[in-house]
Amino acid sequence: MANHNPDIPNLLQRFSQIGITLWCDNGQLRFRGPKGALTPDLKAELQQHKQAILAFFGQGSVDTSPSSPLNLSSFYQKPTLVSLNQVIANALENKGTEGNAIATATTTEQLLQEAMAQLKDIPDSIHFVPAQKEPMAIFLTGATGFLGTYLLNDLLEQTQATIYCLVRAPNLNTGQERLQTKLKAYGLWQETQGTRIIPVLGDLAEPLLGLSLDQFQQLAYAIDIIYHNGALVNFVYPYTALKAANVNGTREILKLATIHKIKPLHYVSSIGVFLSSHLATDHVIYEQDSLDHGGTLYGGYSQSKWVAEKLVSLASERGLPVSIYRPGTITGHSQTGVCSTQDWLSLTLKSAVLLKALPAIDTVLEMTPVDYVSQGIIYLSRQPSSLHQCFHLVNPYPCHWHQLTDFLSNFGYQIQSVSFEQWVQQVKNYTTESSSSIANILPILQAHGSGSNQVKFNSENAVHALAKAQISCPPVSSQLLHPQLSYFIHHDFLPAPPARISVN
Ligand SMILES: NC(=O)c1ccc[n+]([C@@H]2O[C@H](COP(=O)([O-])OP(=O)(O)OC[C@H]3O[C@@H](n4cnc5c(N)ncnc54)[C@H](OP(=O)(O)O)[C@@H]3O)[C@@H](O)[C@H]2O)c1
Repeated sequence: MANHNPDIPNLLQRFSQIGITLWCDNGQLRFRGPKGALTPDLKAELQQHKQAILAFFGQGSVDTSPSSPLNLSSFYQKPTLVSLNQVIANALENKGTEGNAIATATTTEQLLQEAMAQLKDIPDSIHFVPAQKEPMAIFLTGATGFLGTYLLNDLLEQTQATIYCLVRAPNLNTGQERLQTKLKAYGLWQETQGTRIIPVLGDLAEPLLGLSLDQFQQLAYAIDIIYHNGALVNFVYPYTALKAANVNGTREILKLATIHKIKPLHYVSSIGVFLSSHLATDHVIYEQDSLDHGGTLYGGYSQSKWVAEKLVSLASERGLPVSIYRPGTITGHSQTGVCSTQDWLSLTLKSAVLLKALPAIDTVLEMTPVDYVSQGIIYLSRQPSSLHQCFHLVNPYPCHWHQLTDFLSNFGYQIQSVSFEQWVQQVKNYTTESSSSIANILPILQAHGSGSNQVKFNSENAVHALAKAQISCPPVSSQLLHPQLSYFIHHDFLPAPPARISVN
């Protein structure tokens, strides 16, 4: 990353991953984090980019400091996502950021303008001649993430190709190490496949993915197919903070797909692109439904995913061979339970166990195991009939939220169902004592509570196509959740339930 143009959203994300929160207080840069987390190197990095970070906060990032107009207690006081976003909007306005291109609540018409502005480098008409042989060089983004690690593994298993992985790292060794470490942590590493993984040092948020023009062209020449899965997944940042990685990054991927030779693009989107408050409860979204639903999207993450998917689908209309995959809530592996500990459902489970309480909200519990999503994407991407299609990779057998209490009780945790307000108060008390990351789940649970995600996602195309390969999604049940709970206990993310402690 060039010093004169640091990527502050990425920097904030890296710091937040190691538990360090940064904020701006009266023109001073402040931080809070576990003892020893701020190493001398990280401190030097902060000093080096201090002015850029302060400027970034001033430009409308979410500042959750206690003294900020937008602190977490504002979240606690606002029970619905609509009012939460009003809080964000007010906070940004107070900071003089009215000039933001995308406001907190934005209609798909406004988002369309944002997508159109990004299209200028994409040819008007794209002519694709399908290759007669299997792809031998694959480009994958987000391979160090939760889903990306499984995609990398499934590509290694199911193809003979070399996999070029975009990775953020200072040198090739560290890049290779980051990819290997994730595969090892998930029990997927196979020494014999190591030579087929080629790290490509870069960054989605940078022009040309952070590569030199020469490197970018060489890559475009070398690869046969692209899996674009990487994204900055953050439910608190505003659109302005996510645009570089999620929208500009997708624009650069489209450039890569269209220069030298036309390459099929497999794009990982999200059902979040339809989570709009104007869609009635029980409205069914089909895989072929238009993105232009005319509703209002709340929160930078869904907005950035909408604009990115729109870009990809506009390129598809121009002739680029594209398939779009919209996962639901990706959860632990259905057999091993391997799971991310950063996502909102894992943090909700943690809050339930720590507080011995779950909020009683009238919503659906949807859990789509990572192995179903990954195997589904790889299988579908290898069927010529999937091009120009969209697939919902969601659990076709969800259940009501209240059953989560039963699943946890069956495992031995005693969990009470409490009102949403009581639960928010308990989280508030808990997080002021321990500054736990579980506070981060409030915005998304508020969205569930407000009913903005009650729409149903039909996944007929995906289910039908995957049935041919005997790939199916297990229903949401105790059986699906329990391996994930065991994984959390094994990795000290959760304490074991009392009954289990007494066994040994
Ligand atoms: N998790 C879900 O429930 C869910 C649901 C629907 C859709 N999705 C979509 O699925 C995809 C994968 O999600 P995930 O849950 O696996 O997320 P994740 O674990 O947070 O992984 C994100 C990946 O993207 C990479 N990335 C982020 N910003 C980048 C940048 N500026 N340059 C290069 N790489 C960057 C990360 O690299 P680092 O390791 O360097 O940070 C990481 O490899 C995303 O597109 C997401 O929108 C996820």
